[in-house]
Amino acid sequence: MRTVFVINGPNLNLLGTREPGVYGSLTLADIGRRLKTKAETLGIALEFRQSNHEGDLVDWIQEAGQAGAGVVLNAGAYTHTSIALRDAIAGSGAVTVEVHISNVHAREPFRHRSMIAPVCAGVICGFGAAGYELALDGLAGLAEK
Ligand code: DQA
Repeated sequence: MRTVFVINGPNLNLLGTREPGVYGSLTLADIGRRLKTKAETLGIALEFRQSNHEGDLVDWIQEAGQAGAGVVLNAGAYTHTSIALRDAIAGSGAVTVEVHISNVHAREPFRHRSMIAPVCAGVICGFGAAGYELALDGLAGLAEK
């Protein structure tokens, strides 16, 4: 796997100022920069994207699948609601790791259910922004198998 799409969903553009007690103080651009450095050490090209619109996320998952790229997906609140994202992952065949900055299982009950986890290769949550790097390592490990 030479390319990984890192796809961020709604409200993640607000990182840095959004509920810093929950999500930390790094911006999404900070996370992207860190991840790019890490990807270079792994020989992976990154496509780092964010949208507040569900259809964009569907399009990008399909694009990743067609390109044979892996996906690191923080779908934000769509994680808990979106059958369309689940179908995009399953239908495109893009090997996907679900990521959350916060530990969703220690939060409100509506965050405990993920529509996408059953079609993802793995799930990482609760490690803050480092979760993105863990997900990249996980994808790289799967690609080696
Ligand atoms: C989140 C957790 C979701 O429940 C929430 O809606 C988000 C961010 C996280 O990264 O912890 O927007 O995906």
